[in-house]
Amino acid sequence: MELSTTTLLLCLALALSNAAPVPGDAAVDDASLPDRCDEIGFDAITPDENGTTFFFRGSHLWKGFRGPAQLSNESFQQLDDIHNIGHVDAAFRMHNIKHEGDHDHMYFFVDDKVFRYYGHALENGYPKDIQQDFPGVPSHLDAAVECPKGECMADSVLFFKGHDVHVYDIATKTVKTKTWSHLPVCTSALRWLEHYYCFHGNNFTRFHPVLGQVSGGVYPKDARDYFMKCPNHGHGGGHTSLNCSDIKIDAITTDDAGKSYVFAGTNYMRLDTRREGLHAFPIARWWKEVTNGVDAVFSYSDNMYLIKDDQVYIYNAAAQYTLIEGYPKTLKEELGIEGHVDAAFVCPSHATVHIITGGTIRAIDLSATPRVVTQEWTLPFSHIDAALCSAEGINVFIGATYYHYESPITLATSRIAPEPQHVNTAMMGCKE
Ligand SMILES: *[C@@H]1O[C@H](CO)[C@@H](O)[C@H](O)[C@H]1NC(C)=O
Ligand SMILES: *[C@@H]1O[C@H](CO)[C@@H](O)[C@H](O)[C@H]1NC(C)=O
Ligand SMILES: *[C@@H]1O[C@H](CO)[C@@H](O)[C@H](O)[C@H]1NC(C)=O
Ligand SMILES: *[C@@H]1O[C@H](CO)[C@@H](O)[C@H](O)[C@H]1NC(C)=O
Repeated sequence: MELSTTTLLLCLALALSNAAPVPGDAAVDDASLPDRCDEIGFDAITPDENGTTFFFRGSHLWKGFRGPAQLSNESFQQLDDIHNIGHVDAAFRMHNIKHEGDHDHMYFFVDDKVFRYYGHALENGYPKDIQQDFPGVPSHLDAAVECPKGECMADSVLFFKGHDVHVYDIATKTVKTKTWSHLPVCTSALRWLEHYYCFHGNNFTRFHPVLGQVSGGVYPKDARDYFMKCPNHGHGGGHTSLNCSDIKIDAITTDDAGKSYVFAGTNYMRLDTRREGLHAFPIARWWKEVTNGVDAVFSYSDNMYLIKDDQVYIYNAAAQYTLIEGYPKTLKEELGIEGHVDAAFVCPSHATVHIITGGTIRAIDLSATPRVVTQEWTLPFSHIDAALCSAEGINVFIGATYYHYESPITLATSRIAPEPQHVNTAMMGCKE
């Protein structure tokens, strides 16, 4: 199953609560500014070092997925008429963790020149001729996009010109040219949440960064339904900058691959991809059978366990979250317990799940068959929403407050609650 056989629902909502929708981009009063909901599309799209995505057209840009246009030189000073630049041809953010001096820097391409920025400031020595930094890459590009190792063979940049794609290996500084005639000519390209998109006019097409093949749905799709909010387009989902104090999560877990998820209502959000921003999607996008939210989630040995009411769903995380045959099963059958589960967690490289139901916490050995409760304690509080165990210890969430414990045993046995802490921007991307 490909991720986007279900739609790439770019909700742009931090749907950790049901906040009211806010007006779309059409609410732009200034008619002198370009409107991203027209059919023209973009010259370049790239994230900056903080994960804010910039959409460029002519001398203007849009900062992020919402909001009106502004002059590009307000954000990137030298992108202006003085330097004879009315537009950028292509842009990308460098992925090069081996060279910190290059990593996360932004590159803009204009005719035969490259401009390099960090912290939105033009760097010394720039602009340069493109070939000084990227030997073998042609001038007058159409689009560019980063492609880290793992997604491409090596840390690379894909440069598009017509139907040719020049794959630039940043370590060896060598170029391999391919021709992908089946793809539209991309006016801009974007890597977003580990997928690759070629933008052309108001449309976009998802492609495989190595093979070029178009997969995971019917393309082209209209960018106005996904990458921005336009009148009469998209699902009309609300966008919120949710206040941190309004956060209420149902479950939180980190799997063996380091993917970190929070669940709230019928949505989930990945926390480890914050370089692309934080985005909420329906839980059923990945976990198809779970359409009505979750009570608790934990990860163990390549599997993700989702608990809702008295049902346990086990998904194989290594196989794109396919439901394991025979599931869901009842809590009683699977874990030997009953009652409403509030929270569950497994600590890294442990085989014990701790399940919190009301004021009780139970330890269950996951390596034993059948599973049995090995220990049980009474907690000093009830009404826990979610809990996460990491190498640093355990965080127990109650609304927008969380409590930190060193270990399951301190959580189970301490009679004094630790200092309450508050969910913050760094943790959940909410507004403080
Ligand atoms: C920004 O660009 C606009 C239009 O290209 C130009 O009129 C203006 O002078 C520029 N502003 C600065 C501060 O360079
Ligand atoms: C990126 O985020 C850091 C930390 O919040 C901030 O100090 C910096 O100004 C941001 N950079 C840009 C270009 O917005
Ligand atoms: C966008 O896609 C629609 C539907 O496939 C098509 O009719 C239209 O010509 C496309 N426009 C561009 C600029 O690719
Ligand atoms: C967040 O808090 C501010 C100030 O307390 C308030 O004005 C605003 O409406 C709140 N936003 C939401 C989405 O609740």
